[in-house]
Amino acid sequence: MLIKTPDPIKPSQITDKQQYLNRRQFIRDTTKFGMAGALLTSATGLILPAETALAGTKLSTVKNHEFSTDEELTPYDAVTSYNNFYEFGTDKRDPASRSGKFKPQPWSVAIDGECMKPGVYDYEDIIKPHQLEERIYRLRCVEAWSMVIPWVGIPLGDVLKRFEPTSRAKYVSFTTVMRPDEMPGLRRDVLRWPYREGLRIDEAMHPLTILTVGLYGETLPNQNGAPIRLIVPWKYGFKSIKSIVKIEFTHKQPKTSWNISAPHEYGFYANVNPEVDHPRWSQGKERRIGDFLKRETLKFNGYGEQVAALYNGMDLRKHY
Ligand code: MTE
Repeated sequence: MLIKTPDPIKPSQITDKQQYLNRRQFIRDTTKFGMAGALLTSATGLILPAETALAGTKLSTVKNHEFSTDEELTPYDAVTSYNNFYEFGTDKRDPASRSGKFKPQPWSVAIDGECMKPGVYDYEDIIKPHQLEERIYRLRCVEAWSMVIPWVGIPLGDVLKRFEPTSRAKYVSFTTVMRPDEMPGLRRDVLRWPYREGLRIDEAMHPLTILTVGLYGETLPNQNGAPIRLIVPWKYGFKSIKSIVKIEFTHKQPKTSWNISAPHEYGFYANVNPEVDHPRWSQGKERRIGDFLKRETLKFNGYGEQVAALYNGMDLRKHY
């Protein structure tokens, strides 16, 4: 990433979900008195645009215990106010404070490339045939901080199979929407836009990989990638691309935004690996947002049992 040193949020800046819900009530009350759209500064000092805080729609989910961690959840406020979404700016607070104009509905995703059923599919066409699951995953950012988040999504593989990829489909590439009028960060060339990411087809089909539409039981806030994003929990967070508008099956390894901008720092695979340092900082430890002390980073972010076999025979120092 572009920052030099990780900049963790302090425990004192964080409120839990119940306080967040209370605050939403407060926002509703103030809205009644004509203060809609005003920025709200909470008791914690975090700033949330009222519009964004009101956005969550309840989702009906089943809990997936098999893949969920029972570690303590990162509070909702931290999850939704300390973000990386460079299309809204590079400061961690920019996505929450500058995404109020972004319209996540209606939405469609173009499916293209090596498959039998390409086309443009509405959000509902993609999501509706599947049962939404809640999965509590760790997300480890390349900047050496991490969170534990109850995501709501569906296995990406189940969705991809419906488009009938051909035998030439070796990779899957993902592209984020580009709307300069709604995404002020696009005015600066900090990355090659649109934001692009990619997975090998077996990584995309792996049961841990989810197409994500919500968190904490509600639709995704804009700053977290509304209305549809990827979560690949064993890879650094930058692989978990937000606000996806295109999915393409490819024969060749696709180009990715971070790899284009700094190939020596961000590889295509980007598996969480404490043995391979980032050229500018160690990846051996991480700070769980809300904690004071750092903890050891686990290989594959602790999901090695499920995913290590995908990389048998590969030199993960070379393929970082
Ligand atoms: N997707 C897009 N389109 N733009 C981004 O800047 N940042 C990535 C990833 N997805 C990013 C993105 C990075 S670096 C991280 S760590 C995660 O989103 C952060 O997800 P979160 O803000 O929901 O925690």
